[in-house]
Amino acid sequence: RSALLKSTSELLRRSRRGYSSSANPERKVAILGAAGGIGQPLALLMKINPLVSSLSLFDIAGTPGVAADVSHINSPALVKGFMGDDQLGEALEGSDVVIIPAGVPRKPGMTRDDLFNINAGIVKGLCTAIAKYCPNALVNMISNPVNSTVPIAAEVFKKAGTYDEKKLFGVTTLDVVRAKTFYAGKAGLPVSEVNVPVVGGHAGVTILPLFSQATPASNSLSQEDIVALTKRTQDGGTEVVEAKAGKGSATLSMAYAGAVFADACLKGLNGVPDIVECSYVQSTVTELPFFASKVRLGKNGVEEVLGLGELNDFEKQGLENLKGELKDSIEKGIKFAHGN
Ligand code: NAI
Repeated sequence: RSALLKSTSELLRRSRRGYSSSANPERKVAILGAAGGIGQPLALLMKINPLVSSLSLFDIAGTPGVAADVSHINSPALVKGFMGDDQLGEALEGSDVVIIPAGVPRKPGMTRDDLFNINAGIVKGLCTAIAKYCPNALVNMISNPVNSTVPIAAEVFKKAGTYDEKKLFGVTTLDVVRAKTFYAGKAGLPVSEVNVPVVGGHAGVTILPLFSQATPASNSLSQEDIVALTKRTQDGGTEVVEAKAGKGSATLSMAYAGAVFADACLKGLNGVPDIVECSYVQSTVTELPFFASKVRLGKNGVEEVLGLGELNDFEKQGLENLKGELKDSIEKGIKFAHGN
């Protein structure tokens, strides 16, 4: 009996050690735009992530309040708020992952590209600081239009001599989250078991869910259902923008998606094997220089950009249809980065 007790307590000790923060390396995460609609719930979710030891919250206004509030949660991450350009360097220094939800969101009737003029400048400024203060961090770009802001970031980093294509990610996780929810609902499958890859970009028709590769497979969906699910996934953001009627775009579901993606990045950095998420990255999967597809994450960021797998005719057509718009958005970003 005492032998059994001894081995049980040893097991408990080991499993506790497995979950204790001391088993994981120290990781600093910075959120830029942390006082915004996405930033605040994202700060909450990163504060309760056991892989985060230091959480840096930066915004042009409002971060002292958000940081004080979130810092009272009894989880290990140490929270600090930073406000204004003169505190940006300190906010970034030593970061392993930088998440960027800074910028203006859509109002009804706007496309993500309508945000370009304001957000492009914000992203350019923040990425210039990242190149200076934490050039090795993984950058998770949420600010829209992601199809253009990621190429802008790449150009800023190239100019600074710090670009590493393995460390720059456009966050498209919300498209995956939506595709999973809508597919599971329509097919009557348990949503927590469902997976759906979403490729292409992050705006309108450039969002291409691959329901033919969804798992578990469903044989109850008609082609009409697939067309409707595809459209709903592509228009998911607009559904929220209209429902919020002028008060912004997705914030809570985006914060969740951003937290899922940042967690995957941290696990990859910590050497956890087989961490695969869809993301918009530098790519040779198609002829376009940036493209979203499944990506294996590792100790240096992108370990492998995975291919598209087999597409059905509807998806092949969707892929051809998205290329023109995605190419234009990429070029627009590159041109902006060079021109200003
Ligand atoms: P928001 O307006 O509520 O918050 C934006 C925050 O950014 C504000 O607190 C603002 O002060 C801050 N900010 C502005 N300039 C800044 C700068 N130079 N440095 C640091 N912070 C700065 O907007 P929300 O709803 O949080 O959306 C943020 C961005 O995320 C928008 O561009 C939106 O389009 C995008 N978005 C992306 C999604 C995706 O799937 N990738 C989904 C939903 C939104």
